Amino acid sequence: MKVVAGRASAVLGSRVADVIEADLALTEFALFPDAELYTRVVDDLVGDEVVIVQSTPTDTDFICLLQLIDACEGASRISVVIPYFGYARQDKRFKMGEAVTARALAGTVEADRIFTINIHDQNVINYFKSKACDLDAAPVIGSYISSLNLKNPVVIAPDDGAKELAKAVASEEGLSWNWLKKKRIDADTVVIDDKDLDVEGRDVVIVDDIISSGGTIMEAARILKQNGAGAIYAGCVHGVFVKNAILRLKKAGIIPFSTDTIESITSSMSVAECIGASII
Ligand code: R5P
Repeated sequence: MKVVAGRASAVLGSRVADVIEADLALTEFALFPDAELYTRVVDDLVGDEVVIVQSTPTDTDFICLLQLIDACEGASRISVVIPYFGYARQDKRFKMGEAVTARALAGTVEADRIFTINIHDQNVINYFKSKACDLDAAPVIGSYISSLNLKNPVVIAPDDGAKELAKAVASEEGLSWNWLKKKRIDADTVVIDDKDLDVEGRDVVIVDDIISSGGTIMEAARILKQNGAGAIYAGCVHGVFVKNAILRLKKAGIIPFSTDTIESITSSMSVAECIGASII
């Protein structure tokens, strides 16, 4: 087996190669003057079983994924791991004429097997035409929280969509959990209803699948502080962190952490073992 790490998943790809004790293929990426992406897999992979690891947080990263699949032509089997599948939040048509972009993109990814991790909505898995499976990073997050030695911790889902994840994370380690109710006003503004929570003097970990602008976390933290919470952590699978979100969260006294599905300074947990266990 050979692992091909895309430009968005160089670190995670090499961790996966270590976990499954496979060779890491050499790749080259460059931008042409008109910003088109150049991608090359330098190693000859004809006849090999290949695992491509590439998240798609940007449009160019999605192009990179398609290029890597094409470049691996001739491999005996191609498994594609898309740790973070961008556009998964555009999974439905809310207004007439809107593109269901998650479906449009998923339909273009062809491989023998496809793996995603905590994809935003399970429906998106059905949009892939190839056999696809969504992996769960909840155990990784649960064991990281335990390693923090927090004071009487409680896991909080900031909205309905995060309830299953928060419950799974908490159950892994026998922690208590609760949830809040969020209303999204627009892409940057959310409102969370006040709620009495048993968080007085306790450390709290807000858990969500994605932190993007950080608006959801900031609003949840406001309610938790009102209820007397101690330290506030914010953990997610996919740290998108747009518009300086990491700095804004830290300035608000919130400690963010994420997995390496999107590689950043907050990636203190790795999903490499989780991927490795599924692709073998
Ligand atoms: C939404 O349904 C997701 O699960 C996240 O709650 C959302 O993407 C977070 O976005 P933001 O950080 O911009 O509030």
